[in-house]
Amino acid sequence: MTLCNSIAMAGGNTYNENCQQQAAVLVAALPLFDDIKFGTNVTIADYGCSQGVNSLMMMQYALDRLPPSSTASLIFEDLPSNEFSSLIKLLPQLYDSNPTLKIYPSLIPKSFYESVVAPGTVDIGFTSCTIHWLKRLPAPKPSGETVLEYYQKRPDANAPAAKEDLREFLAFRGHEIKRGGYLIIGCLGACTKEELANQYNDATAIRHRVIFRAAEKLANEGKIPQKAMEKIFIPMHDRTEEDFLSGVAEFSDTWAMEKYERKIIPHPAYYRFLEACEGADQDKKKAATKEYAGTMVDWILAVIGDMVKSWWLESGVETERVDGLFKKLRDNARDLLAEEDIGGSVMPMMYTRLRRV
Ligand SMILES: C[S@@+](CC[C@H](N)C(=O)[O-])C[C@H]1O[C@@H](n2cnc3c(N)ncnc32)[C@H](O)[C@@H]1O
Repeated sequence: MTLCNSIAMAGGNTYNENCQQQAAVLVAALPLFDDIKFGTNVTIADYGCSQGVNSLMMMQYALDRLPPSSTASLIFEDLPSNEFSSLIKLLPQLYDSNPTLKIYPSLIPKSFYESVVAPGTVDIGFTSCTIHWLKRLPAPKPSGETVLEYYQKRPDANAPAAKEDLREFLAFRGHEIKRGGYLIIGCLGACTKEELANQYNDATAIRHRVIFRAAEKLANEGKIPQKAMEKIFIPMHDRTEEDFLSGVAEFSDTWAMEKYERKIIPHPAYYRFLEACEGADQDKKKAATKEYAGTMVDWILAVIGDMVKSWWLESGVETERVDGLFKKLRDNARDLLAEEDIGGSVMPMMYTRLRRV
């Protein structure tokens, strides 16, 4: 029996502080709200809201489109392990910015691979940068396999589970969203072979690899057990465009695809890096590279950091050593990434607006 993925983004508001790329991803989805006709009493659900900083941007965009004095029920859903307390602290911003609206938020700590709200109650469902997270943990890395080999096999190994997960996600939302209502999806995809050959690096694989090489260094120095290195099962799958579109097409009796677009979203730190390098001498370029690599490492650790810590604990690392070791991992990873040419870290995103038939 494979375990469900139950660990959310890194706590302590870390995700909120390091999610600028996901913010850019979400902003690119917002035009999908533009020609929706909102009533005066709407329910909007964000599936996989995380710690809220991006979710609130989406909710505000939708609230700006409501007729005056409307009532808005806002549903924030994520895994039970999600740090909802960070989101709760942000909610007053919504009330303050919308004094004429009646806003009723609710938080739902439940996996979106289950039914999470009552049938036929949601007008607009939204999800951004979430459904690449698999329901179950993939098989760990076999002990004889290198991190690189594991990552090469990963897309094919995870594709069948990702297909089933998309089915579940669309089926559950089909029950929850009212007929005539909408489901807006921003789904992380994969770069095509041509894009990887000519334009982009596989930024996800490079970042993951760097984290695991940094962890491997700790294991080789005897600081963490070797078996902690075998637990490389980040439950993520970057779908191909074909897989995503054919997955949605399976549900043509529930969902009509009104809009679809694929966009490549770079990390904002890349522009800062390029700017810092312009006309700079070697030392300044080196400093800019280190800073960019640091941002990238913090970005990925804000997503998988708590997961890595949990593997270490399960592998016998004492609780009081975890934070110190984690700091070493972060420093190692920053150095390793600064040595790689990661280029502009991009997220290939597939955006769609589905209408509940
Ligand atoms: C990369 S974050 C994106 C968060 C937010 N939508 C944003 O745009 O910033 C992915 C989120 O999906 C959530 N998630 C992953 N699997 C989930 C599941 N099965 N059910 C609910 N939420 C899930 C994670 O906990 C995390 O908060």
